[in-house]
Amino acid sequence: MTNTVRQGIEECYMYVTTPIYYPNDKPHLGHAYTTILADVISRWFSLLGYNVYFLTGTDEHGLKLQREADKRGVSTKEFVDQMAGVFKEYWKVLGIGYSRFIRTTEQEHEEVVKYAVSRLWDRGYIYPGKYKGWYCTACEKFYGEGEYIIENNTPVCPTHRRYLEYIEEDTYFLRLSLFKDQVIKLLREGSIVYPKHFSDEVLSKIESEGLQDLSIARPKSRVSWGIELPFDSRYVIYVWIDALLNYLTGLGYPKDMNRVERYWKNSVQLIGKDILWFHTAIWFALLAMLDLPPPNKLLVHSYLTVKGQKMGKSLGNVVSIDDMIKRYGNPEVVRFIIARIANYDKDVEVSWDVYDSIYTGDLLNNYGNLVRRATTLTIKTLNGRATRDLDGEFANTIDELKERSINLYNSFEISGAIKHALDILHETNAYINRREPWRTSRPNQTIYTVLEAIRIASLLFYPIMPVTVGGILNSIGLDRVGQGLEQFRLGYVDEYSVRESPIPFKKLQ
Ligand code: MSP
Repeated sequence: MTNTVRQGIEECYMYVTTPIYYPNDKPHLGHAYTTILADVISRWFSLLGYNVYFLTGTDEHGLKLQREADKRGVSTKEFVDQMAGVFKEYWKVLGIGYSRFIRTTEQEHEEVVKYAVSRLWDRGYIYPGKYKGWYCTACEKFYGEGEYIIENNTPVCPTHRRYLEYIEEDTYFLRLSLFKDQVIKLLREGSIVYPKHFSDEVLSKIESEGLQDLSIARPKSRVSWGIELPFDSRYVIYVWIDALLNYLTGLGYPKDMNRVERYWKNSVQLIGKDILWFHTAIWFALLAMLDLPPPNKLLVHSYLTVKGQKMGKSLGNVVSIDDMIKRYGNPEVVRFIIARIANYDKDVEVSWDVYDSIYTGDLLNNYGNLVRRATTLTIKTLNGRATRDLDGEFANTIDELKERSINLYNSFEISGAIKHALDILHETNAYINRREPWRTSRPNQTIYTVLEAIRIASLLFYPIMPVTVGGILNSIGLDRVGQGLEQFRLGYVDEYSVRESPIPFKKLQ
């Protein structure tokens, strides 16, 4: 990927998406987790010079929203309008720089869904039938035998631990089964799903249960809040088909196919592991039915848990974004902590002790103190000015850590990338102790090299804390972060002009 950047950045397009969230309540830390990761990825590649289009939004149809609005005694439309606003507010506070916030109740999206479903109908991929089964409204999903838990002789949702509803109704099915081999091939041969074990998981499910046709219509008598099925007005379209298509609406499908193609080729889709099946088996088949390739990358992360249980509204164990912002006094610290603990493979338990020690250890004592130490030294010993004179040996150490961090960023391993950036800071602190620049009469080389190391680590933190890092760079006389890899070269800056010694992070109360 690094090479592509070097070859010519004007050619590089990238599409980054998050799931669109059900706005049945305000977002919690679990939603922030995916959204922050997607934002960091999108800011990282923008920093390298990619033309990134970043889509997030809200999934506003279906029974879940309809019931929540009923419960609150407002119309569903009023409710989702209000809640989409709430999501936007949170993302603004958290510095989520999306290119577009999509809502599935937008007219443009409704038209895209009707267009796509008509196309599937015309091609014979949809047929009428009858459905019987157990349904979880919280998942908006039918559970087959063996997939649910039995409690008090009644089927219970394994994710939400609540009773399933038995539903028997006329519907229409999508012929997923026709695409079984194609989906298997994509999962087996491609390197789309990351980490790979998630694609193995889907593969073994398809191999043992097959790929069943999917019921994609809901009678209006049961679910009225949805997009009407274009060829039978008694039904609305299943909310997951409606929702998945948002990723195409976001790019201007089907009106601007050039644009769709340009971005889709390099699409990076982030999801939590709860919605893996929808984003592989169903999504890959749906795309194939529309003659489109699968996404380039599907990044799947594990859960944020509380006492081992997935954090979520249904379990009533959510950690509020507000509490976390309040605790650290800076929303960018929330971004840093979340990015630092992010884990694709394993669930991560929410822990204030861990968060506090990240704040104090990494930000306050490591980053913040080094910046303060270096700026004070520059002001005291060099009148605030350090000119280019790189200590080659120490620069090599920094270079190596930097390369590792960049490579991890390029393979979407954000928390690993951060660790190496933090190592740069550790090494630099130790370097100052060794060199004792305050004792020599010619401290310029040491101080210039230290400032370069701080600049490099700061660039690596920039996608995570753009405002805070911008302020720090400012205090050492750099007023603008550029685009491309060139700025990551040690020795890139001619001269530093340190104006002040900032205190970017304050002690926890
Ligand atoms: N509306 C669907 C997605 C449709 S995408 C075409 C949906 N929405 S949701 O509001 O339930 O959000 C799901 C996503 O939120 C998860 O896939 C995950 O990315 C994120 N998370 C919600 N709770 C989470 C945790 N406790 N831990 C980690 N991620 C969490 O499903």
